[in-house]
Amino acid sequence: MAIQWYPGHMNKARKKIKESMPQIDIVIEVLDARIPASSENPLLAELRGKRPCIKLLNKSDLADPVITKAWRTHFEREKGVKAIPVVAEKKGEARQLIQKIAHVAKIELTERNLDLKPARIMILGIPNVGKSTLMNGLAGKILAKVGNEPAVTKMQQVIRLDGGMSLFDTPGMLWPKIGDEDSGYRLAITGAIKNTAIEFEDIAHYAASYFLQSYPELILQRYKLKQLPSDGETLLEEIGRRRGGLRAGGRIDMHNASEVLLNDFRSGMLGRVSLESPE
Ligand code: G4P
Repeated sequence: MAIQWYPGHMNKARKKIKESMPQIDIVIEVLDARIPASSENPLLAELRGKRPCIKLLNKSDLADPVITKAWRTHFEREKGVKAIPVVAEKKGEARQLIQKIAHVAKIELTERNLDLKPARIMILGIPNVGKSTLMNGLAGKILAKVGNEPAVTKMQQVIRLDGGMSLFDTPGMLWPKIGDEDSGYRLAITGAIKNTAIEFEDIAHYAASYFLQSYPELILQRYKLKQLPSDGETLLEEIGRRRGGLRAGGRIDMHNASEVLLNDFRSGMLGRVSLESPE
């Protein structure tokens, strides 16, 4: 489920996070590894101030590993920032991750006896990046689904983790970068924002052109094509002819073709694809 962000929502979310921040020692920002820049929140850097930040590049099973590596290097140029690719959905991933976070806590909070006063950690991120999946893994149990409320609940509970850490039991909900046209398309392609002002077929067009340019081999393979279509429109027509079915009068069902392409990307059937790189 995606939510629509209005200025009121954004102000409320910002206020809540600002209120919680003094209690937080380490910020975990969950990003979508396929769109690490577009899934960032433009204000988080300001809200977290000098607090150490771990950027979790989640859904890295779906992203291009070479580009994910470049993002890691890019993020870690900033002091106090550690970037870790994860697959929150994968069983067993949480245990390793707890160790990595504990390691950061030890390095960043050297003066503190973490057994006596655990590092307080909060998970933040835009809707649909995998915050709930991640928290359930870290907590080792199913927590109540937070829902897409752009706020942090008042009754904040903490969950004790191994390694001298405690985790706030509700994630902070942030809004994505709104306004930049490319970011809007990328968020829509991943499904992070739905019901956007951008038409569904427009989104598929943008995706088709990008895939052709950046991942031609994957396109040839997935749709069993001998030759690369000249542009996004032709690719969608080709997909429509092969997979989307035809409408009355032999017309290609472009909506269906758009759905096939976007679903193939979102489910990973197309292959491991990133939509943006740090350059
Ligand atoms: P949120 O709390 O940040 O809103 O996200 P949530 O955990 O609900 O996860 C959103 C969707 O992303 C879920 O799919 C979840 O299974 C999927 N997901 C989370 N982590 C990973 C990962 O590491 N890899 C992959 N491939 N998927 C991941 P869903 O319930 O099917 O939702 P939807 O995709 O139908 O919206």
